Amino acid sequence: MEILKPVDLIGSKVKWIDTRFIPWEEIWRETEDYRRLAKAIKDLEIRGAPAIGVAAAFGLALAALHYPGKDLEGLMRALEEAKEVLSKTRPTAVNLFWALERVMKKAKEVAEKTGSAEEVREAVVQEAKKIQQEDIDMNIKMGRIGAKLIDHGDTVLTHCNTGSLATAGYGTALGVIRSAWEEGKEISVIATETRPVDQGARLTVWELKRDGIPVRLISDTMVGYVMSEGLVDKVFLGADRILLSGHFANKIGTYQIAVLAKHHGVPFYTVAPTSTVDPKTTLDQLVIEERHPDEVRCCPYPYEKIYVTVPDVDVLNPAFDVTPPELVTGIVTERGIAYPPYYVSLRRLLALDEG
Ligand code: MRU
Repeated sequence: MEILKPVDLIGSKVKWIDTRFIPWEEIWRETEDYRRLAKAIKDLEIRGAPAIGVAAAFGLALAALHYPGKDLEGLMRALEEAKEVLSKTRPTAVNLFWALERVMKKAKEVAEKTGSAEEVREAVVQEAKKIQQEDIDMNIKMGRIGAKLIDHGDTVLTHCNTGSLATAGYGTALGVIRSAWEEGKEISVIATETRPVDQGARLTVWELKRDGIPVRLISDTMVGYVMSEGLVDKVFLGADRILLSGHFANKIGTYQIAVLAKHHGVPFYTVAPTSTVDPKTTLDQLVIEERHPDEVRCCPYPYEKIYVTVPDVDVLNPAFDVTPPELVTGIVTERGIAYPPYYVSLRRLLALDEG
């Protein structure tokens, strides 16, 4: 199976597929300007926790590659400025901040060791590319680990989009589904449409159809019904930030699926690389992004504004919700599956001191 890379650094440019136009059109964009890339993250041209982490790292690479001077101090300042701009794009997914920190740490190490702007530039580019490749490798590993949880004949419900389009390539929860399919298990998928932006209807369906994996689309309001009818064997979905307590933030609607899965005895798994586990943030510090009200008022159709309601209605538009650990059967990572109690198993996976 060929792996689609939704965002890539090619020479001195970053190239990405604008996911707002899928499934209508496959539009590839490119830039040499990290500010344009930051806008692409903010506007959901590039979205999904691991994908925005990779994009942010590439943003720093652009800042390094296009810094006009030869002095180290100026380059480091330019990198700090780019980090600031990129970190203001989306607040909930930890991968973005994790990737920015990781690249900056590398830049500082090389700056201290060599004092050379040229070496720092090269190190930033290499670190960003490493983050991209590692994400693909982790997805393939998670896919293999998670596929063991899927049986021949299973119907798996998934939410939002966790595939190639949400990562550096292959996918997290969709990677698990892909992997089970590649192993020859005859499975099928129920995808929720995932209002307001319809990542499920637009992106997940598009990806699964490309791979020939059987998929049926439901509206978000049908989850309770399909579970009560016994049509769902397991739930697999992604995460934007996992806390050590096992609480995790993911696309709005995840929490209600978790509650329904518990009620109906359906195993509920989240799949994410360890770069999505945030050992520093506590539940009360977690920031849930509030997005533009027109996402709820309108169809997610990028060509024209089509209101599905009275245009001036007040709206709530939290982009994510939080699922508590007691609703989660297991957390699949590239280092293995964490089971409750998560404050013990996640610490072990991250090799943190217990306590
Ligand atoms: O707002 P989005 O589309 O960036 O939200 C994406 C999700 O919530 C995904 O489920 C999550 O990032 C996991 S992607 C592998």
